[in-house]
Amino acid sequence: MCGIIGYTGHRAANDVLIESLKRLDYRGYDSAGIGIIGENLQVFKEIGEISMLQHSIPKIKGNLGIGHTRWATHGKVSKENAHPHLSCDKKIAVVHNGIIENFRTLREELENKGHIFTSQTDSEIIAHLIEEEYKGNLEQAVSSSLKKIQGSYAIVVICEDEPEKLVGARNESPLVIGVGDNENFFASDVTALLKFTNRVIYLDDGEFCIVTKDSIHIFDRNNTEIQKKENIIEWDFNDAKKSGFPHFMLKEIYEQSDSVQRVLRGRVSEIDRSIELPDKVEILLNDAIDSIHIVACGTSLYSGMIGKYLIEKITNIPVFVEISSEYRYFGTKDRSSLVVFMTQSGETADTLGALKKAKNAGSRTIVVTNVIGSTAARIADGFVLTQCGPEIGVAATKTFTSQMLSLLLIALKIATIRKELGSDEIYSYIRNLKDIPRQIRQVLAQSDKIADMAKHLKDATSVFFIGRGVNYPLSLEGALKLKEISYIHAEGFAAGEIKHGPFALLTKDTPVVAIVTRDATYDKIISNIGEVKARGPQVIAIADEKDTEIEKHADFVLRFPTNTGLLSCVSITVILQLLAYHVAKLRGCSIDKPRNLAKSVTVE
Ligand code: M6R
Repeated sequence: MCGIIGYTGHRAANDVLIESLKRLDYRGYDSAGIGIIGENLQVFKEIGEISMLQHSIPKIKGNLGIGHTRWATHGKVSKENAHPHLSCDKKIAVVHNGIIENFRTLREELENKGHIFTSQTDSEIIAHLIEEEYKGNLEQAVSSSLKKIQGSYAIVVICEDEPEKLVGARNESPLVIGVGDNENFFASDVTALLKFTNRVIYLDDGEFCIVTKDSIHIFDRNNTEIQKKENIIEWDFNDAKKSGFPHFMLKEIYEQSDSVQRVLRGRVSEIDRSIELPDKVEILLNDAIDSIHIVACGTSLYSGMIGKYLIEKITNIPVFVEISSEYRYFGTKDRSSLVVFMTQSGETADTLGALKKAKNAGSRTIVVTNVIGSTAARIADGFVLTQCGPEIGVAATKTFTSQMLSLLLIALKIATIRKELGSDEIYSYIRNLKDIPRQIRQVLAQSDKIADMAKHLKDATSVFFIGRGVNYPLSLEGALKLKEISYIHAEGFAAGEIKHGPFALLTKDTPVVAIVTRDATYDKIISNIGEVKARGPQVIAIADEKDTEIEKHADFVLRFPTNTGLLSCVSITVILQLLAYHVAKLRGCSIDKPRNLAKSVTVE
């Protein structure tokens, strides 16, 4: 979603804002703008990527300013709708991420008072509201304006008459303060700050904050000043660069041989034959568990669906997987004692809504996330970090494989606590887990072959992915990766389901990707492939390296290294990711920033 930055300090605000916006553009990028106070307040906006803005603005003098990348929600993509938004007297500028639900009423009231609006956005009302409330003190005007606003927001506000301060506030949209020496920052995402500082303070809902270059004052909803602790971010600035890869997505696919090691590091012990998770999580897993709900959106949801197979196989606990946007309104009736939320960013609005709902309903909550300090990590009773480092490509890759493995670790831990697995079985899982990085490297070494295979898909208008068992959610993920970055229509199906309707869509021009593992359903998926081929399409099978039969059934075969049933998920995923990547590349698509999508969906 939208990205926000604010800066005050000794550097040229122009440079800091543009640099930080570039780091944020993966959150949303249909337009961008900056506002800087030098001799007076100046605002510049541009449609398109940050580089368009960078090249269209003059060098502006000034050491304090705000910036924004927009992902349109209210109002079309246009310069007028881009942020910052200005008050009528053009002295107050605001950047906003979120949705103001009562903006129509507020706009009408403000228009009746004579305010002239120049955009169709909900965000612009904030600038006019603050102008209406302004009596010479920006923070007071912001604070009283926010009392009138319903909805979600992270905002940063500046005022020409008080050129030394930034005022920021958050409610259900992320905002952090970056702490520097003789300079301070606001950002919607720590990635934006890494070049300048790794010291951050996380704001919570209802808090607002006055920042100058050498002071930070934070207030709670009751306007009482509070002290908050500073956190050190371990991520390296270089992790957020492409490091020679043509795309972040490809870099992040390749990083998986390391990232899966990181998710296991310190958590599996071959010597002790044990699994260790953060203390708070272990306590939550120790209590009686009747059933588990896993709740998430998008790719994270599919990792949850894979988690269902893993947990149910290893522990005998029933697992229910729910879409966050449904669960938050309908899901807590048959609540489980334990609800696990999967969210790479930890900021997805629907998942946060569902998390709050589960907490209020009295469930124990665990979050699996990649972002320490994210809202989800701070709200949940316990969290497991996937420890992948920043993921910049909009398509989730390395975080997906680490989410799957985190759920496997949770399953193994529960099984140990409940004595459902003995130490030999745990040992054997650990051995197999430790072989995964090598197996990923083996798949990566086939990248050219996968790129070749992509030629068979690049002109398709529709592609089916099919699989059984755990390969069903993998099919959903394979289809999601392909559709989001190549814009080819793709659907994932449980292989047994295609004869119940989807068959009607199959023609010889609908390639089918079949995931084939050597398990109890092997014969079934082979006969599904036969049914498909009888209708004309070509079949690409993703099959075990030891499968000597598959060539007889499929037109093309990509191989993954043998691992115990469920653990081949990771290698299969890497093949699916590379396939989608190469198809999108052949089609010349904007791989890291697919149209209409944002990395982190912070509005409902
Ligand atoms: O940050 P989250 O994991 O909560 O994000 C959920 C989805 O928006 C996300 O997984 C999305 O589907 C992926 N970017 C797709 O690759």
